[in-house]
This record gives sequence, C-alpha cells and structure tokens, in this order.
Amino acid sequence: MNARFITFEGGEGAGKSTQIQLTADFLREQGIEVVVTREPGGTQCAENVRDLLVRDTGYTFTPKAELALIYGARVDHTEKVIQPALESGSWVLCDRYADSSRVYQGIAQNVGLKTVQALHDALLEGFEPDITFFIDVPVDTGLNRTQSRDGDEDRFENMGTSFHEKIRNGFLKISDKNARFSIIDGTQDIDNVFSQIKSVLKAYV
Ligand code: TYD
Repeated sequence: MNARFITFEGGEGAGKSTQIQLTADFLREQGIEVVVTREPGGTQCAENVRDLLVRDTGYTFTPKAELALIYGARVDHTEKVIQPALESGSWVLCDRYADSSRVYQGIAQNVGLKTVQALHDALLEGFEPDITFFIDVPVDTGLNRTQSRDGDEDRFENMGTSFHEKIRNGFLKISDKNARFSIIDGTQDIDNVFSQIKSVLKAYV
C-alpha cells in the first residue's frame, strides 16, 4: 500500500484537529503507521516561524514577506519530516499545507496564486498532497467556535468577517479545480463529519 500524504484545510474553527485525530485512529486501526503534523510548524525551526506569524503582537510582516517565511518553514518541514516519513512507509496527516498559503496569502492577502505557485515549484518541485480535505463551515459558525478557545494564536482569527469570507471562497475555488480535494460539510456533528472523511479514505485503505 502506498504511503499517502493527506492534508486538512479550512477556515478558523472548522474542526480540523478533531478530524485529524479521528483519521489517525482509523488508519492505525487498519495497521497503518501514521505521522501527524501541522503547518506552520512541524520542526523546531518551523515552530519558531509559526510563533512569529500567528500571535497578534501588533507588528506584521508584509504579505509577501509572510509568504517567504512560511515557505522557509515549509521546506524545512517537508524535507526533514514529511518526505522521510512517506519514504519509510508512514502516512502523513498534516493540519494545513500549501493550500493555506494559496488562500491566506495568495488570495485573501492579494499576493497572487502565481507567486505562491512559482515559489512552490522552485522550492518543492511540485510536491503536493495525495488527498486534501477542505472542511467547510460558514464563517460565522467557525468564528463562534474559536471564541471559546484559549491561547494567543489569534492573529488571523482577529481579522474581520470579510477576510474570512475571502478565505472560505478561496478554498471553494481551488477545491473545485483540483481532483485531490474533497469538500466536507463541517457543520454536522463530529461523527457525521468523520463519516464523510472515512468514505473517501475507504478507496485508499
Ligand atoms: P492553525 O493552527 O491551523 O489555525 P486554526 O487552528 O485557527 O485553524 O493555523 C494557524 C494560522 O496560520 C491560520 O490562521 C492560517 C495561517 N496560515 C497561513 O496564513 N498560511 C499558511 O500557509 C499556513 C499553513 C497557515
């Protein structure tokens, strides 16, 4: 069985982490080795970059600078963690990957999809997930869910509703164009959301 690289995408409060955990449990029950990781992050260097980006400190990088930092972190994470895990036969579940850059930086912050793609091709030579789940929830539902969260990773959450509408529409647009995407209705209860994911995975396990 080929090792698969699976990513989970969505706006704020889509419920990605719960579904990633359920997916990891399901795959392990099938005897599959699983590595769970996240972006920005996944290596010590990349987690340091994450801290710079997701805290609402009042200081921000320009969107292009932000994209460059994220790609620095992504290359480190891909080369040190994701690709070696896949080569050793483990499946990799990643909370966000390059599609988040396409949508958050490329579309919502106007850097442009072409720039994101050029950087991706130059640094990662077309490396992409095998399967991507876009967990879709209306913006208000997602933002309401995140209000009950603790922590200080709130820079993007604090952006206005119109920013988050751009994110949702951006994911819908790129999901539509790409066969590796499955759009998952994230408004349902946890079990029903996972059933949608499982029905896609069954073709692979
Ligand atoms: P994450 O921890 O997944 O946020 P949440 O749990 O709120 O969904 O990701 C942190 C933030 O980083 C998220 O708001 C989106 C942003 N981000 C980008 O802007 N570009 C990227 O390429 C990635 C991977 C994340």
